[in-house]
Amino acid sequence: MNKEVRDTLYTQAKEWVLEAGVRVRKQMLDPLVIHTKSSPRDLVTTVDQETERFFAMRIREQYPDHHLISEEGYGDRLHTTEGVVWIIDPIDGTTNFIHQRRNFAISLAIYVDGIGEIAFVYDIMQDYLYHAKRNEGAYKNHIRLKPLRRNFTVSESVLAMNNRWLIPNTLVDESVMEQLIQEVRGTRTYGSAALEFCYVAEGIVDGYLSHSLCPWDIAAGMILVREVGGITTNIDGDPVDILKKNSILTCNPSIQESIIKDYIEKGRKA
Ligand code: IPD
Ligand code: CA
Ligand code: CA
Repeated sequence: MNKEVRDTLYTQAKEWVLEAGVRVRKQMLDPLVIHTKSSPRDLVTTVDQETERFFAMRIREQYPDHHLISEEGYGDRLHTTEGVVWIIDPIDGTTNFIHQRRNFAISLAIYVDGIGEIAFVYDIMQDYLYHAKRNEGAYKNHIRLKPLRRNFTVSESVLAMNNRWLIPNTLVDESVMEQLIQEVRGTRTYGSAALEFCYVAEGIVDGYLSHSLCPWDIAAGMILVREVGGITTNIDGDPVDILKKNSILTCNPSIQESIIKDYIEKGRKA
């Protein structure tokens, strides 16, 4: 994709993200209509659905040859990353949206032949728009994010992760994760994967470790983190398959190897 085409796409996507933000704010004035999906912990509101529909309709109309991967049913079932693929989470952090009315975001990424070209994560309530184009850096509104700091250790880091790592799980031994939690300077849980990626990109946390995330949770965040020199892999250190669920570590390179080798690998369950 040449620069001119990408810039036009970026401008269009930005306009839609901001417009969707205005719509979400307006819809929040009415009581939320909430449904459960797979379990009482897995919620969706009509605002999630409406927002995804808003993007899907516009993309289908304006770019009929593009593809869409998204959470609430308006997307395509893709088996290849060929072509232009929009990857959208209309509201990431739905539990926060329902319980807190803040700490949620729209996440939108555009991949071309599997390469992340354009990213937006919009924290609507704070009016923070994180955005990036490949090889042109990452921004928070008009401020360019700095390259990530270097040369520090796990004991000098703050990690975003949730308590699922301490509950019996099939991925990593809980006692090893306990050691990691004791070693770091602090842990944080924000409840929106997309925003947690942004905080890694912003350098306010040094890594984010999460169980099975979907493509729409991570697609934009991975681009933002990459643009400031961070790394995203699955928890075994292998490349992320953007079409599948992945348990991921997105991280400052100074501590990435140590987290994988000294902790995850040691506690990895078969
Ligand atoms: C969820 C959030 C949450 C993460 C979950 C995701 P949703 O997305 O990103 O932080 O822990 O795994 O499913 O359902 O609010 O879009
Ligand atoms: Ca999500
Ligand atoms: Ca969602």
